Amino acid sequence: MALEYPSSTFIGIDVNSSFFPSNDKCPPNVCFLTSNVTYGIPFPMETFDFVYLGMMFSAFTELQWSELINDVVRVLKYDGWVESLEATAQFINHGKVTKCIEDAEKGVNVRISALLPKMFESNEMLANMQCIKVEYPVGEWYGCFGKYSIINLRRLFQSFVFLPEYLGVSYEEYIDMLDIFVKEANENKTYTYIQRCFAQKTWNA
Ligand SMILES: C[S@@+](CC[C@H](N)C(=O)[O-])C[C@H]1O[C@@H](n2cnc3c(N)ncnc32)[C@H](O)[C@@H]1O
Repeated sequence: MALEYPSSTFIGIDVNSSFFPSNDKCPPNVCFLTSNVTYGIPFPMETFDFVYLGMMFSAFTELQWSELINDVVRVLKYDGWVESLEATAQFINHGKVTKCIEDAEKGVNVRISALLPKMFESNEMLANMQCIKVEYPVGEWYGCFGKYSIINLRRLFQSFVFLPEYLGVSYEEYIDMLDIFVKEANENKTYTYIQRCFAQKTWNA
């Protein structure tokens, strides 16, 4: 996107900098910032034309989500847009181990995508909200896309280093569970959903 829109400036924020590309691999209009957004987005009000929240469904409690949306609206310029892309974190055609991982209680609301449309709608500064929910097949049964999505989800679950404790298993046992999750998804033709919502900050909302 930065190459496609060279006159825009892109700022990526994450609490964990390990996935940030090195500066020499970034176009000059991109930078990355290590920051915990539960303490607020470290920018003045009305800074951005567009704020994108991607796949944060495993990161926040409901209260933190609502505070985050308020803060996103704060840093958005009037007429600017916010977009979220979140998985529903519910699997259809799941196996036993998949269900067990899905249900693990860890203090955050992983099903936040179901609440996000209402959260956007109830923010009095946001209007023109639209949401689109599509199937997200996981597993080799769905060709190249399914192969990619299962690798992606397995990596995501592996990054949940706190989950083994909630599941009452060791880290090694958890890794074995993830292998079974992949096997189950391939066999059962598992899929989930992802949802994209966007809304505009307006003067008159
Ligand atoms: C599934 S990844 C999504 C990464 C990226 N947003 C994307 O769309 O590809 C979730 C990310 O949320 C980050 N994260 C979790 N809690 C956070 C927080 N409080 N503040 C900022 N980033 C956080 C994690 O470090 C992780 O990289």
